[in-house]
Amino acid sequence: MNKKEAKSRIEKLKEEINHHRYLYHVLDKPVISDAALDSLKHELELLEKAFPEYLTPDSPTQRVGGKPLDKFSKVQHATRMLSLNDIFSKEELLEWEERNKKLLPSTSKINYYTEVKMDGLALSLKYSNGLLKQGSTRGDGRVGEDVTQNIKTIQSIPLRINIDSLDKKVSLQAKKEIIVRGEVFMATADFQKLNQEQVKKGESEFANPRNAAAGSIRQLDSNIAGSRRLSFMAYDLVTDLGQKTHKEAHKILQRLGFRAGEENNDSLNSFCDDLSAVEEFYRNISKKRKQLPFWIDGIVININDLNIYQRLGVVGKAPRGAVAYKFPSEQAVTIVEDIQVQIGRTGALTPVAHLTPVRVAGSTVSRATLHNEDEIERLGLKIGDTVIIQKAGDIIPDIVEVLPKMRTGKEKKFVMPKICPMCGSKVLRKEGEVAHYCTNKNCFAVQRESIYHFVSKKAFDIEGLGPKIIDSLFENNLIKNVVDIFDLTFDELKSLERFAEKSAENTIKAINNSKNITLARFIYALGIRHIGEETAIDLADSFGNIDKLKKVNQDDLSNIHDIGGVMADSIVKYFKDQNNLDIINGLLERGVKLINPVSRKHTAITGKSFVVTGTLNSLSREEIKEKIRVAGGKVSSSVSKQTDYLIYGDNPGSKYEKAKKLGITAVSEPEFLAMLE
Ligand code: IVH
Repeated sequence: MNKKEAKSRIEKLKEEINHHRYLYHVLDKPVISDAALDSLKHELELLEKAFPEYLTPDSPTQRVGGKPLDKFSKVQHATRMLSLNDIFSKEELLEWEERNKKLLPSTSKINYYTEVKMDGLALSLKYSNGLLKQGSTRGDGRVGEDVTQNIKTIQSIPLRINIDSLDKKVSLQAKKEIIVRGEVFMATADFQKLNQEQVKKGESEFANPRNAAAGSIRQLDSNIAGSRRLSFMAYDLVTDLGQKTHKEAHKILQRLGFRAGEENNDSLNSFCDDLSAVEEFYRNISKKRKQLPFWIDGIVININDLNIYQRLGVVGKAPRGAVAYKFPSEQAVTIVEDIQVQIGRTGALTPVAHLTPVRVAGSTVSRATLHNEDEIERLGLKIGDTVIIQKAGDIIPDIVEVLPKMRTGKEKKFVMPKICPMCGSKVLRKEGEVAHYCTNKNCFAVQRESIYHFVSKKAFDIEGLGPKIIDSLFENNLIKNVVDIFDLTFDELKSLERFAEKSAENTIKAINNSKNITLARFIYALGIRHIGEETAIDLADSFGNIDKLKKVNQDDLSNIHDIGGVMADSIVKYFKDQNNLDIINGLLERGVKLINPVSRKHTAITGKSFVVTGTLNSLSREEIKEKIRVAGGKVSSSVSKQTDYLIYGDNPGSKYEKAKKLGITAVSEPEFLAMLE
């Protein structure tokens, strides 16, 4: 990016951020996610670093905390209300510890107290002689807003604290004025109820529980604030009541009558001897996150020993002795540099956005699928646009929104190619379909994609024949279709650049071993349109052998429960095509042997439909699917009303949310394994 471009982008970013900050902080009505806003700010910060001449004092990056609103009276905080620095990875966690160690005597033993990071807003409470006197928001850290009337309606904030529970040694002076800090939040169930009520009243919904909590606390009318069910979790005891560690502070807070983690239960707060224990806490919380009754956006790690914590001091507006280890954000902002078309196995042309690489949900992303022309139209997307992308689980990200105000005028409209970029044949959009297709059956790209599919894990599962090797076999005219794979010789493979003697030998072995295959996998490998793994199993179960299937007609298929009209048409059409029959015969002639399907057991889960999501711990995806099938269950890739169970692993994402909405039973991996027993 040259200087002129940087200047213009910086200006646009500032405008965009200011606009969203206003919607968020003044009106409490954000229209983009926090992650997307953070991503915009992050880009601005980087550009200002690279082009410091364009850094101005009014830049959103120069802002320290929010300014108190005018409508409430101001409160000077007795001690500054600090914020936390964020980290996102194990490496950053280790670096944080290393930095602290350098500032401490080598004899200091550091251990930690970890807590969930509530997604709400910070509140400071002042108690005089045990009575709640004042509640205030953070504001800019030094001066906040007096929200005493409103927070008095929050049931988890005690109006009187139990100062008699304190140690006898605590001075009277200390007991006189006690300051407690924590987070005001709205439980997920209360948030959902509130939004339902908002809809009924014809008012707009809140974007998330935090905005709902912030909006409620800032209500001038405490009756309204009171009607919104808010909660409070304490995390900091500012007054010295004899606590030597964070853990002790939490115990005291609990005795005083606060909710401060869970007593006798380490699930929300935990003492951690070292960083590996901290990581374990982070992992456990990530897993449990979706089941908690409130939203959290990470964990907070405090150095447990308060002496050490104090000694490390503060940089900027954050203490050195604590950090927020955030969950990976699932949205980010980036630029669509180009839109290119990919051709799939079925000949469908899929537009793919090539992005300026950006980190989202823990990994770097440079592509997003655009599905089809209609989707580009719906988004109003042009090449060169700044967009919000979203990733859920481990799937390719989607573009969720275009930020049209970020345009420079140089953006270009995308036009679907009229001829196939691979083979030059005509491209057509079939009536009633959203996709465009290459009309050439023998299109090089289509053939190549069918071979990728044919050798893939769920099909012939031929190890050693990855996409790069297949490309090179094509380029060297060694294969044209799937049958040719079985004619490959050791010498041919060895002649390729990518092969050594040993790997050529192993690949030939793998090809030979793949020849014994179940009928279901064989059908799936053929790549019949609309026929996924599960339908292939249904077909194998119903027909039992390939000869019967070759003569299939519509009537045969109408009795099979899960096969609808579109699938039936596709199956019949496939087996009517002589080209396809030649492929099947060619494979059989080369020694492919179809083994009988394993008989399925009848168990408690027979006939039930399952969806698997998230990262599993003890089984691979294929293994768990196999277990479901052997026990008579069915596996599907998307959650619908027909789903009976969702099996979830770590970081489950959107499928989990959807299942929850539909009231589908969600079981963890161990729970599922227990079901099988
Ligand atoms: S400790 C020195 N503990 O996160 C600041 N903060 O990003 C003391 N938060 O302003 C903060 N849960 O509003 C702490 N268990 C927790 C928290 C927590 C949520 C919020 C808090 C803070 C912000 C920093």
